[in-house]
Amino acid sequence: MKPTKLRCEYLVNPLGLDILEPRLSWVLDIEDSKQKDVVQTAYQVIVSSSLEKLERADGDIWDTGRVASDQTIHVVYKGKPLSPQNWCFWRVKVWDGEKNESIWEDCEIAYWQMGLLSKDDWNAKWIGGKTREPKKVMVNDYTKPDPVEVIKSEPSPLLRKSFTILGEVNRAILYVTALGEYECRLNGNRVGDHILAPEWTDYNERVQYQAYDVTDLVKEGENVIGAILADGWYMGHLGPGEAIRQRFYGKNRRLLLKLVIEDGSGDLIDVVSDNTWRIHENGPIRSADHFLGETYDARLELPGWDVPGFDDSSWAPVVVDDSVDVNLVSQKNEPIKIFQTLEPVGISEPSPGVYIFNMGQNLVGWCKIKLKGERGQEVKLRYGEMLEMDGTLHVENLRLATSTDVYILDGGEERWLHPRFTFHGFQYVEVTGIKEKPAMDSIKAIAFTSSCPEVSSFECSNPMLNQLWKNTLWTQRDNQHSIPTDCPQRNERMGWTGDAQAFSQTAIYNMDMAALYTKFVQDLRDAQGEPGMYPDFAPHPFNHMMQFTFGPGWGDAGVIIPWRTYVAYEDKRLLAEHFESMSRYIDLIQDENPDFVWKAYLSNYGDWLNGDTIISDDYPKHGAEIHKVMYATLFYYLSTSLVAKMAKVLGRDDDHEKYSKLAENVKSTFISKYKRPGRKLKGDKQAVYAMCLGFGILLEDMQDDAVKHMVEAIHKYDDRISTGFVSTIQMMIELSNKGQNEMAYKLVESSRFPSWLYSIKQGATTIWERWDGFVKGRGFQGKGMNSFNHYTFGSVVEWMNRVILGINFDEEQPGMKHVIIKPRPGGTLKWVKGHYDSIRGRIRVEWNRERDDHQYLVEIPPNTSGTVEISIPKGGDVLFNDQSVTDGNFIKVVEKRNNAIVMNIKSGIYEFTIKS
Ligand code: BGC
Repeated sequence: MKPTKLRCEYLVNPLGLDILEPRLSWVLDIEDSKQKDVVQTAYQVIVSSSLEKLERADGDIWDTGRVASDQTIHVVYKGKPLSPQNWCFWRVKVWDGEKNESIWEDCEIAYWQMGLLSKDDWNAKWIGGKTREPKKVMVNDYTKPDPVEVIKSEPSPLLRKSFTILGEVNRAILYVTALGEYECRLNGNRVGDHILAPEWTDYNERVQYQAYDVTDLVKEGENVIGAILADGWYMGHLGPGEAIRQRFYGKNRRLLLKLVIEDGSGDLIDVVSDNTWRIHENGPIRSADHFLGETYDARLELPGWDVPGFDDSSWAPVVVDDSVDVNLVSQKNEPIKIFQTLEPVGISEPSPGVYIFNMGQNLVGWCKIKLKGERGQEVKLRYGEMLEMDGTLHVENLRLATSTDVYILDGGEERWLHPRFTFHGFQYVEVTGIKEKPAMDSIKAIAFTSSCPEVSSFECSNPMLNQLWKNTLWTQRDNQHSIPTDCPQRNERMGWTGDAQAFSQTAIYNMDMAALYTKFVQDLRDAQGEPGMYPDFAPHPFNHMMQFTFGPGWGDAGVIIPWRTYVAYEDKRLLAEHFESMSRYIDLIQDENPDFVWKAYLSNYGDWLNGDTIISDDYPKHGAEIHKVMYATLFYYLSTSLVAKMAKVLGRDDDHEKYSKLAENVKSTFISKYKRPGRKLKGDKQAVYAMCLGFGILLEDMQDDAVKHMVEAIHKYDDRISTGFVSTIQMMIELSNKGQNEMAYKLVESSRFPSWLYSIKQGATTIWERWDGFVKGRGFQGKGMNSFNHYTFGSVVEWMNRVILGINFDEEQPGMKHVIIKPRPGGTLKWVKGHYDSIRGRIRVEWNRERDDHQYLVEIPPNTSGTVEISIPKGGDVLFNDQSVTDGNFIKVVEKRNNAIVMNIKSGIYEFTIKS
């Protein structure tokens, strides 16, 4: 048994960490995956100040010795106090149940490096250009007849400094951040592969810095370090929609940088941003904005500006800005990086000289394009998600986000050009301003996302469901750029919390969300109003107490996301750090709503985009939306119950009692207020029963009736969905949990409008915001609010994992210490296979019912256990190793009913045959 996938604070070999007691985790790997009941009985972690010492097993910073424990995650560092820029190389060895221990030489080596822990550690100045008065410019808003006025984005300045290193370079680490966005250059090379750094936070509360290992880029002799700055989220356009903002956080782009070079003799040399730097404010990037796009004038390039020997005497000295006073923190989440390059699958020419490339996939990023032309020739790229009926680019849904990149050519050699400080949501790109039809290989789409590791797979006998799974994954990638966003194309791109919470379980099944959610929970807290309200989106560039806040189902992300993060990754520290904030939220709801019904909220979007918003002759106009106070009170109950559970986890007995009691009061008030004759509930709609069942607010003896009425409400819609963003996933899960699995399959496998597969039949490669975003024969729905890259309805992937594969978390033993495997075949499916890489290792499920005897395969990782529930046909039996299953072989039969068997299993791979 070997420890692998070593991580520190969820990250692989992080640089510049600012956590003094970081947590270490590993995954156990065994040579023979068939081996069962493999456990870790002890571990030893050693942390050394150098690689050489680690290789000698000399844990001069920390040596835990042999610790009898099965803990593989969140081992809290308790070694020598850590100081800025310390290097910590570490290894772990483990002992199994047979007292075999892994050999140090076989164990992976990992490291983390401490960052700059206080302002004094930086010893650098914020630098940039002169303050410029805002100039206005007219731009298009595709939903408006006339152009609108916005503040002009100023050209990106180039900053540079040359320095000399005498002697060899042992190691060089660059710490850097900006107000705005930066790209750093060292001796002509781009530093690192981050995009849009330092990413979005509430800059008034915290600014993230990044650390890069630049040892290979610094050399003996003269060196040049440079940076390009742009507006980014700091100064550029921010959504949402009409409430648009610019220059919200400040009006000057600034750079803060410290390069620490260790020379051959071990001495440290600092190169910092200060008044010795020079600036050129008239660079080739003429404007860059996330919504509007980027304009690049190749004629203004300064070849060699970022390498030694360039004459910068005409450049101005930088402005040193001592007024900047921000809280600097190390980046906690995986950086935004390129993850795929896509080639076009088609090209069309809807009118002469207008070329539209189809990239075959709705994605987020930009295109790089190979260009050659006359000096001054202007080539324009406009990005869009869909085409109009006449083949032209559909841009109306972008609203003010005109997503246009412009290149002004210098008449030189043919070369590739791309933007740096913008991003677009698109499948199609329209190119104009070129003289001839471009070749297919003259353009490539570059897709980037927060680089959270992808952790799952799914494949089944229905190819349309496979496409649905893929579309959801793409939509998630397309909506994770330092925060989970609602959409990536129009003038919003906000961290809408309702969308984020509804999708969060799917997000966790698809990707390792631990680090990104750790950051996003901080964003939520930074946006929390003083009395306790959580925002409708985070970061939140508005008044935290008045606007876009305290919305049921939205603000509750402040409770739901930490809870799900805890259940998935056993992150108790997150709960502990966040508990006071969450209890303040619940206390506020209680104070404002003393009768246990949540009526006093500030915003209420309800079950967003439910069936009542669908426009189609063939679909009921009313009857879908759950009453808004009822909806709000359900969230009051859910969040209060979750906070009660968290109090229990944290050993806060008084709080546990307080919030459990409050939840009980909300529940009994809810039932007496909303119970209706005929054992129905107010509204008698799909969403009503789905949410009441899903949130667990009904008494045991009410549940069967609720399920019955829910199914009747589905029949009223001719067996179609009428649920919205919040209730859809609840309905799917409750149908499968409460004896109506076939109905759930019917809904998910339907391609009749409205349904998931309807969009796929229209060619969707991502999840649509609206069921009727585009309807054949009718065209697009609505003017502006019609995104084709909105993940929320993709939350059905949670159901696909929980029901089709049957992989379920156990709240009592979080982080998949114990897994509940309960596959529920249904619909047309003949087989499925898939996996989820949990924080403790791989969980894999396969089933096949093509033959009379059905096959199941279950794999759970070392050091975990599982409960497997498989249904059996009447009179059938479950065989393991060709024998009827009994206790033994690491299996314990917990229950054998006439239609199912429940077994506890130890780690390993198990194959079962179900005899009909
Ligand atoms: C966003 C949503 C969001 C909503 C709030 C929309 O414009 O795209 O997904 O949750 O506003 O109502």
